[in-house]
Amino acid sequence: MADAGLIFTCFGCCCGHTNNGAARFSPPAMRRAFDAAGLQGRVRLAFSECLGPCSEANVVFVYLHGRPLWFKRINTPDLFAAVFAYVRAAVAAPDTSLSDELMAHSFSWTGGGVGLELA
Ligand code: FES
Repeated sequence: MADAGLIFTCFGCCCGHTNNGAARFSPPAMRRAFDAAGLQGRVRLAFSECLGPCSEANVVFVYLHGRPLWFKRINTPDLFAAVFAYVRAAVAAPDTSLSDELMAHSFSWTGGGVGLELA
């Protein structure tokens, strides 16, 4: 079975780097959280170079069931876990809504998304 989607976690010039004001994160720890969320084999997790909206670091892009979602300022392990939990729920039920917490971190950017468009 093909993966239902992709999670691109930006680890470019700003995201994950405290010298630019973003919160540090550890890709190996993220991968462990991804595995713990039961997403292995369902969704692909990748760490990318700069995705573009650096002012919103840490940025996560999710492409699931043909739908793009952008998340900004995912700066704590709990927020990363919330993204993974949403993706896990939405793999099984594509109409799953974003929680209020994740909606506050969602934005529109290149290719679409949900929430306010970045200027
Ligand atoms: S470094 Fe993450 S958006 Fe630019």
